Amino acid sequence: MEEKKITLRFRLSDNAGDLEPADKALLEKARLTALNAYAPYSRFRVGAAIRLDNGEIITGNNQENAAYPSGLCAERVALFAASAQFPEAVIEAIAVSIDTDNHEIIQPVSPCGACRQVLAEYEHRQEREIRVIFSGETGKTVTVDGMNNLLPMTFTANNLKKSK
Ligand code: THU
Repeated sequence: MEEKKITLRFRLSDNAGDLEPADKALLEKARLTALNAYAPYSRFRVGAAIRLDNGEIITGNNQENAAYPSGLCAERVALFAASAQFPEAVIEAIAVSIDTDNHEIIQPVSPCGACRQVLAEYEHRQEREIRVIFSGETGKTVTVDGMNNLLPMTFTANNLKKSK
């Protein structure tokens, strides 16, 4: 049996200071969007902002429900809206930020597994890497170029095809 290793690449920045201007602006948008999340149960508000290659910015925030599993994460709210409105556009980047009540979260909050899977689907569809920028309420940000760095060994449409 052969052992293999996977390397994940990401960039850390302090206080979003050294992000590219377009990414910094996207993160600002995500921060503002988090404020409008509907999260009365968790009080953990998440905002996501997507930059498309046609210049559009699509935002989404988490939408919770008294029947808990019926809610949806911010990233998927934004991704599904982007795909619904601009199916031909390429997703260049998504920024994610949060807003909480009692304590300030400074550790970057990375997208959940289900949102990573959805990101991987769109990346596969558009054949162009998606940049993911995530952060806490303040503090460091993480930037990842390409879903292979967030969700290696991904299940994609290729797995549904007959292998050659
Ligand atoms: N949440 C997101 O919106 N995105 C994530 O990547 C992680 C979790 C939401 C779901 C739920 O409304 C709240 O945060 C607490 O889990």
